Amino acid sequence: MITNEQTGTNIAEVAKGIYRINTPMDIPGGAFSFNQYLVVDDEPLLFHTGPRRMFPLVREAMATVMAPERLRWVSFAHVESDESGALNDWLAIAPAAQPLVGSIAAMVSVGDMADRPPRALADGETITIGTHTLRWFDAPHVPHGWENGYLADETTRTLFCGDLFTQPGRGELALTESDILGPSEAFRAAMDYYSDSKRARPVMEKLAAFEPETLAVMHGSAWRGDGKALLLALADAFGA
Ligand SMILES: [Fe+2]
Ligand SMILES: [Fe+2]
Repeated sequence: MITNEQTGTNIAEVAKGIYRINTPMDIPGGAFSFNQYLVVDDEPLLFHTGPRRMFPLVREAMATVMAPERLRWVSFAHVESDESGALNDWLAIAPAAQPLVGSIAAMVSVGDMADRPPRALADGETITIGTHTLRWFDAPHVPHGWENGYLADETTRTLFCGDLFTQPGRGELALTESDILGPSEAFRAAMDYYSDSKRARPVMEKLAAFEPETLAVMHGSAWRGDGKALLLALADAFGA
């Protein structure tokens, strides 16, 4: 469903109770897209805040499925404008909202940057927000950011995998079962945003062991299939 005609911002359910809010954008060299994921539950959670200047669009889209003021948790993989730029905007409109991040992010950045103290999750720690239970995975430097990590929803086996599998284009399909590794590898070849961490392999194996069925990517189409195999294929492709 298109929620903003001017920008083409749209919202679609990609797993039970999990909505992708997608904003396409023209950038030098072609189209690109930014996704935020909303988990609607007793304690609603947003993964990626969206850039600060995109906040009105994301809020408008969220309002079509729930009152944005209900938001309880604001989470993201690492500190960067598309991941966390609108953090304080969300905290300002939702009185009970709190950042939910890994322990490194809390210590290094979010404890200071955020207008409300974060709840920090240790590697492997879970949080139950109603019917969904989510687990935090530290993933330092994979693909970038010391503080980087991912949330995984055990209820729907959805991995919120941030910048992994970044695809070019507008991400028209909310959810696809066709190849996303090829397009994302082509993008990585053109714009190498990976840290080349020597410790990437165990991180990728840890994510693969979760055996996700849905990969909720930040840029492009979310994907459904054998997530374990695709994560290991990505690790092989970038030489982890
Ligand atoms: Fe990033
Ligand atoms: Fe990103």
